[in-house]
Amino acid sequence: MNIGVLTSGGDAPGMNALISNIVSLAEESGHKVFAFRCGYQGLVDNDIIRLTSDLTDNIFHLGGSYIKAFRSSDFMTEEGFNSAIKNIKEYNINLLIVSGGDGTLKGATKLSASGVNVIYIPSTIDNDLKYTERSLGFDSALNSAVDYIEKIKMTMLSMNRIFICEVMGRYSPELAINCAYATNATYLIENKKDYDEQKILDTFRNYLNAGKNSPFIIVRENSININKLAQLLQNEFDIETRATVVGYVQRGVSPSVCDRILARKFAEASINSINNGELNFALGVVNNDIKKFNFKEIKK
Ligand code: F6P
Repeated sequence: MNIGVLTSGGDAPGMNALISNIVSLAEESGHKVFAFRCGYQGLVDNDIIRLTSDLTDNIFHLGGSYIKAFRSSDFMTEEGFNSAIKNIKEYNINLLIVSGGDGTLKGATKLSASGVNVIYIPSTIDNDLKYTERSLGFDSALNSAVDYIEKIKMTMLSMNRIFICEVMGRYSPELAINCAYATNATYLIENKKDYDEQKILDTFRNYLNAGKNSPFIIVRENSININKLAQLLQNEFDIETRATVVGYVQRGVSPSVCDRILARKFAEASINSINNGELNFALGVVNNDIKKFNFKEIKK
């Protein structure tokens, strides 16, 4: 069988582990693997390369995506979509394995509804796909963000400063909530509606009155203006306050052990299913187990 793979959307740590495992397991079963580079854009533009294990055996521990990830607006147009279908047929691709976040899932669902065999594998640091407990990349991004926040904390503690750290997640609070738990943050802002100035000031006052120093806040991106909040805290407590955006260091990291293992499990479930003739589904994690979902039953 000719298997096409692509990674789409923002890259997620673990995509390379997934590709590496898919290629080696597919080869063991006698399949050929081709990559469409730059996600769905590669399908539209016919940017295709053959993947063999000599190319991909040693990429599993690297961050990013060897075959590139991309958000394609061309694929969303009728012309782009038709070109993608044409290229899949022309290259005699029997099945596509696509990995990415919610936008990628929408594309996979559309391709599947058009008669293409598709396996979708969730990968996004935002962990915001409702049907699955876990997406590839979340654990790595969380560990990276926590590591970064701990480093900021060491310098802030030394200088008795207050600080604010904004973490990624787009509109999903998962990274922010788990970062706050893992770093024992003084306060968490996961949504704009949590922004209660009085509550923040009272919490900080109690903390400082207890003789502790360097209280800090974890904020989910796209929720509030962290510089404005830093100014408010500095004026109120007369303590130097710094606001930091953790940013892309969360995403570009090498995959965590948990994500490497998850990538292996997703790859195994995909290739075993292909060998059993099951060619159309999304994979997810439920009660820590890998499960298959029909595209139609997935709640978006
Ligand atoms: O969806 C993954 C993610 O890293 C979000 O957490 C973030 O909001 C977004 O992508 C950033 O996208 P870009 O790389 O296009 O700036």
